[in-house]
Amino acid sequence: MPAPPNDARSREGQVVSVRPSGSDGVILRVALEERLPPLRAARFFMLRREDRLSPAIPRPFSLYRETASGELEFMIKVMGQGTQALAKSTPGTKLRVVGPLGNGWPALTGDGAPWVMLAGGIGSAPFYMAIEQALAGMDGQAKCKPSEIFYLYGAAKADMLYELADFQKLGVAVHTCTMDGSAGKKGHVLQLLEELQSAGKIPKSVRLLACGPEKMLEAVELHARKNALECWLSLETLMGCGVGICNGCPVPTVPEGPMGAWPNAKCCVEGPVFKTDAITLCGAH
Ligand SMILES: Cc1cc2nc3c(=O)[nH]c(=O)nc-3n(C[C@H](O)[C@H](O)[C@H](O)COP(=O)(O)OP(=O)(O)OC[C@H]3O[C@@H](n4cnc5c(N)ncnc54)[C@H](O)[C@@H]3O)c2cc1C
Ligand code: FES
Repeated sequence: MPAPPNDARSREGQVVSVRPSGSDGVILRVALEERLPPLRAARFFMLRREDRLSPAIPRPFSLYRETASGELEFMIKVMGQGTQALAKSTPGTKLRVVGPLGNGWPALTGDGAPWVMLAGGIGSAPFYMAIEQALAGMDGQAKCKPSEIFYLYGAAKADMLYELADFQKLGVAVHTCTMDGSAGKKGHVLQLLEELQSAGKIPKSVRLLACGPEKMLEAVELHARKNALECWLSLETLMGCGVGICNGCPVPTVPEGPMGAWPNAKCCVEGPVFKTDAITLCGAH
């Protein structure tokens, strides 16, 4: 399926609500001037406040959820100035919203190996709609049965498993792990995957989707290469413009791979989702 076109239009948005999520996150709900057409999961928007609290350069965020009335929700981990400003918004705060941008996950069809979704902390943001869309079928594609999706959710500690209760209501198998053992299995998502596969709860042949910290994605890429699994990564590369102009978001490509001879892809316009036959974070291919 071809990637959806970028819509680099800049729109005014208005904050509807901000509520805390986990120990260091917020769920920011935004109303736009106009309703957007259906959006594929893992597409993203560049956001900043209209006032001077936000840095001049907007920050990229995956779409977390869309409400029935078309309001957009973002799940945001508060890091530096840009995310702090967004987290301090109140209902009515004016935002600049550029998007939807990027390609989103591939079509999550139910006609092959099961999908294993590996989320690390705030990397869970692009998975909520992915599960919803896979179960509902999108763009006329074959729906997934709940038994064809496994959501493996890892974090440093229990209160960084943002919105876990909502993921658990989606009707697919949700397994958790934390590095400190405060929730689920102690360890990281690949250890959890291997344990579930050894116990026969997840088949060996699966299709992987992953989003999380770069070190986690490097490990997932290596795992996919070693086991010859199809694998897509949604990258959270630092970005400047978000629309392909500044060259600020390079991702190393596999030499002479599907992306051709150019050594770097642009995460914002050619991603943020890449198949691991096309790019390499760990340098292997
Ligand atoms: C396509 C895409 C989707 C994203 N989706 C989400 C999302 O849904 N929710 C969310 O919370 N974040 C998401 N991010 C990451 C988010 O954009 C950054 O956390 C944000 O830009 C940080 O801005 P800041 O001004 O608060 O921090 P800054 O002041 O810019 O940075 C604070 C610290 O965080 C580090 N940092 C900043 N950005 C990143 C990053 N991408 N990876 C690792 N370290 C970083 C900086 O080096 C610095 O040390 C996404 C990024 C991309 C590219
Ligand atoms: S962020 Fe500017 S080219 Fe990608």
